[in-house]
Amino acid sequence: MAKNKILLVTLLVAMSFVVSATVAMAEPIVIKFSHVVAENTPKGQMANKFKELVDQRLAGKVVVEVFPNSQLFGDDKVLEAMALGDVQLAAPSLSKFEKYTPSLQIFDLPFLFKDMAAVEKFQQGPVGQEMLMSMKNKGYIGLGYLHNGMKEISANSPLRVPADAAGKKFRIMTSDVLAAQYEAIGAMPLKKPFSEVFTLLQTKAIDGQENTWSNIYSKKFFEVQPYITQTDHGVLDYLVVTSTEFWMDLPDDIRAEVKKALDEAIVFGNKVSEDKSIEDRQKIIDSKRSEVIMLTDAERELWVEAMKPVWKQFEDKIGPEKIEAAVKSNM
Ligand code: LMR
Repeated sequence: MAKNKILLVTLLVAMSFVVSATVAMAEPIVIKFSHVVAENTPKGQMANKFKELVDQRLAGKVVVEVFPNSQLFGDDKVLEAMALGDVQLAAPSLSKFEKYTPSLQIFDLPFLFKDMAAVEKFQQGPVGQEMLMSMKNKGYIGLGYLHNGMKEISANSPLRVPADAAGKKFRIMTSDVLAAQYEAIGAMPLKKPFSEVFTLLQTKAIDGQENTWSNIYSKKFFEVQPYITQTDHGVLDYLVVTSTEFWMDLPDDIRAEVKKALDEAIVFGNKVSEDKSIEDRQKIIDSKRSEVIMLTDAERELWVEAMKPVWKQFEDKIGPEKIEAAVKSNM
């Protein structure tokens, strides 16, 4: 009798081990995706699409949690958080990687790309693809590029020629190239996180900023900036980034499925960016809160002349051959 009891207890203990091991094995992989923009933007929509695809295809195996609007981390902190394993996916703008790699600064050179088709061509070409891996040894892998669009300059006074910006304060992303661009026109650049821009503009602590139509619209910058000059002087795109360690530790089949979902979400996000650059611009015009200033060819040429010397300043750091490849993508 006692023997039977011992046997039963042993069996129960063994079974509980099996059950808990199964539960532990079934624990899904969590991917926290942190970003700083609103949900109704190319990046916000891309992140949500990625979650939707992973939910459909990897239910029970992978869970994606999306944190928009700098809720979890601002762009100034997200890469450090990723190194600590507190976040697995992010898509900071290409301007925000200066601390980690000089090569991505190429995207900040003013008037380098004539349109988004040229940007796409360069990113998908050999130089752009090589850059995805430029931070691998520092612990980060680029999984792809995502578009937002060309940048415009908003201000509290009309800017038609570069001299109109002289002496004014502009918020910029954390990029020395962007700082040099504003210094080239005699303006004062201030590196500030995206989450602070609206308040800085509203309180007139700064005079202006540069951004895409979707960011100017979704974060309501147009409500506190009476003028937006359509300069299309630069590009604001993203690097979808993860930690090398996290990525390499994923089981092969899961990594392949996650990458597939991400690639599809990027295609979706790029379409959103195309649509929003037209729609959000129009919504701003319709709101009558801000006047969109169109430059004549002669006026635009003055901006090009004033800002383009920045290329020479950063040529050695970025690599002249990369700049040459980017210029060729305009053809
Ligand atoms: C900015 O800081 O202005 C942008 O990089 C925000 C974003 O992620 O689009």
